[in-house]
Amino acid sequence: MSVEVKVNSTVISLVKGDITLEETDAIVNAANSRLAGGGGVDGAIHRAGGPGIMEECRKIGGCSTGSAVITTGGRLKARHVIHAVGPVYRDGNHGEPEALKGAYRRSLELTVENGLKTVAFPSISTGAYGYPIAEAARVALKTVIEFVRGRKELELVRFVLFSEGDFNRYREVLEEISGKNA
Ligand code: APR
Repeated sequence: MSVEVKVNSTVISLVKGDITLEETDAIVNAANSRLAGGGGVDGAIHRAGGPGIMEECRKIGGCSTGSAVITTGGRLKARHVIHAVGPVYRDGNHGEPEALKGAYRRSLELTVENGLKTVAFPSISTGAYGYPIAEAARVALKTVIEFVRGRKELELVRFVLFSEGDFNRYREVLEEISGKNA
């Protein structure tokens, strides 16, 4: 199950799967601001990557909502993990779209700043943090498209969606915005 579009020199792809198995240069974690670990994709990444990642997170100490930090990938195939902190969703009127956009944007900046070419994202904030999936997909995809327009550093930005439903929502939004003024 996969879909892709090319924007400038970057392939944007959607797949259904488990992000811990990705072989991109970096994978992004949906973390919390204490970088303390948790359930969902965060728990899966720390389990698969081993305790070294948490040790690095402890040294970093934390990360504000709407931003991201980078560690190594421990035992993962990906060489790096970017820990992005999305917002807890209240009603959409408490800065949630801006914070979600910031989490994606800072992750993309860290990818480029570290000389990496390929990165995989989960659907940040749409699990425990309760962000409605279609709205989150719109923010995520628009932010990525806007970022890769007019630059050439990134070869691949992949979204790894954990369920068929999430994959379909992202696909619908991508189809809707990729042809237009995203
Ligand atoms: N691969 C890809 N996606 C996954 C995986 C996986 N292995 N496991 C879970 N997901 C999906 C979930 O289905 C959801 O769609 O990741 C999405 C994000 O959900 P959460 O992991 O709950 O992340 P988020 O909503 O951002 O909440 C973050 O949850 O566990 C805590 O420490 C984390 O406090 C933080 C909060």
